Amino acid sequence: MSSDFIIPAHIAVIMDGNGRWAKKRGLSRSKGHKAGTEAARAIVRHCREIGVRHLTLYTFSRENWSRPKEEISTIFDLLVNFLNRELGQLVEQDIRLKVLGDIKGLPMASRKALEHAMKKSADCTSLTVNLALNYSSRDEILSACKSMVRDGLSPDDITEEAMAARLYTAGQPDPDLIIRTSGELRLSNYLLWQAAYSEFYFTDVFWPDFTPEELDKALEHYSGRQRRFGKTGEQIESQS
Ligand code: IPE
Ligand code: IPE
Ligand code: MG
Repeated sequence: MSSDFIIPAHIAVIMDGNGRWAKKRGLSRSKGHKAGTEAARAIVRHCREIGVRHLTLYTFSRENWSRPKEEISTIFDLLVNFLNRELGQLVEQDIRLKVLGDIKGLPMASRKALEHAMKKSADCTSLTVNLALNYSSRDEILSACKSMVRDGLSPDDITEEAMAARLYTAGQPDPDLIIRTSGELRLSNYLLWQAAYSEFYFTDVFWPDFTPEELDKALEHYSGRQRRFGKTGEQIESQS
């Protein structure tokens, strides 16, 4: 049961495997993405229930623009439908929605729906759901560097804090736990700066099959980890 686990303040997920989930069932990739949306919905609710404060979902990477046009439009149609359908519930559950990534580069309908959702949920505080959309971590880091130059920072003022304050995640804690589904063992340009001390959990389960019970399994693993941040195991044990 999740109440017995250590609950991370921030969980970041790479929701991978929609296409392979569909293929295994003889379905179109679109059906896989649709099923993936349902999985995301259940995970958001579960995180809210167990007290996670920040949940980041890798929804569309900058590199995903190289997919077939029809697949891209399916993904953004699903996003708009999801926002239209779920916004009331999200606000009712005190969930704030944010976007990590370049929102100006998104199709207009998605951009409008996202801006509306962010505005409506701006005062919600129980859980922040970050949708990483048109997201590239390298681009995020480069933009932060450019912003420091534009702000005229001297070399001594270029600190970790100055950098973190210019990332999309400014004001939010780094992810404690990063989960990737579908058996792939890579970061795919996700939260490279923020992942410095994250714990990782990889599972072969395809994203549409990643239920709240699967999240609890990840939390069970996470709860058994010893986060050392450079110290020795003995030092950590004597602290607790
Ligand atoms: C993740 O599932 C969703 C997005 C990247 C948008 P995929 O579509 O990457 O599924 P696979 O990896 O092809 O199975
Ligand atoms: C990462 O998945 C991006 C999202 C989950 C949105 P991909 O399926 O795009 O990653 P690669 O290309 O296999 O590394
Ligand atoms: Mg994939």
